[in-house]
Amino acid sequence: MKLKRTDYYKLLVRPVVVVSTISEKGISNAAPFSFSSPLSFKPPLYGFSCSPEHHTWRNIKENEEFVVNIIGKDLGPLMHVLEENFSYEVNEIEKAGLNEERSKKIKPPRIREAMAWLECKLESFGEIGDHIWIVGRVLEAEVKDKFWSEVIDVETASPLCHISGEFFATEMKMKRYERALR
Ligand SMILES: Cc1cc2nc3c(=O)[nH]c(=O)nc-3n(C[C@H](O)[C@H](O)[C@H](O)COP(=O)(O)O)c2cc1C
Repeated sequence: MKLKRTDYYKLLVRPVVVVSTISEKGISNAAPFSFSSPLSFKPPLYGFSCSPEHHTWRNIKENEEFVVNIIGKDLGPLMHVLEENFSYEVNEIEKAGLNEERSKKIKPPRIREAMAWLECKLESFGEIGDHIWIVGRVLEAEVKDKFWSEVIDVETASPLCHISGEFFATEMKMKRYERALR
């Protein structure tokens, strides 16, 4: 089937992260993102693509810090709250009924209900099409013990993945393919 070119992203299943930031006055903000990726091992860099109108970008421009909260399917029903366009400085973590926890290295809070967190400092950014590509240096990475066994345990953690709009993907099986030729 031939698709509209602008529908290309609907072919790609992408993990959802919730990025938390704070405003100049210290009010927390959180929003889901799925156009995102690890970018480099050394230094550890992580990037995501953010519309320039989003409060997330406004806050990161302001203080250069953000937390990437890696979430499971249990938070799926809250996506519609977190993606709501509340006015600036409405605390979306509270609106979604989630809880804040102090980060170790930066000011924006972690979301306690996430399964893992990347605390990031803005490294660089650039315009990319109709988005801003935001690159963060990972200062701290932490995961809840029960979701880790050498790598993220996808069967216990059950990451939430996005396709488009109201369409999400859940339930993964861990599969290990031997590197037979090494
Ligand atoms: C699952 C999901 C994934 C999303 N991914 C992105 C994304 O990658 N980039 C983006 O700019 N907006 C994305 N959005 C939309 C923003 O989360 C949404 O517009 C939000 O209100 C922005 O909040 P803010 O203004 O507080 O930053 C996504 C929304 C959902 C529900």
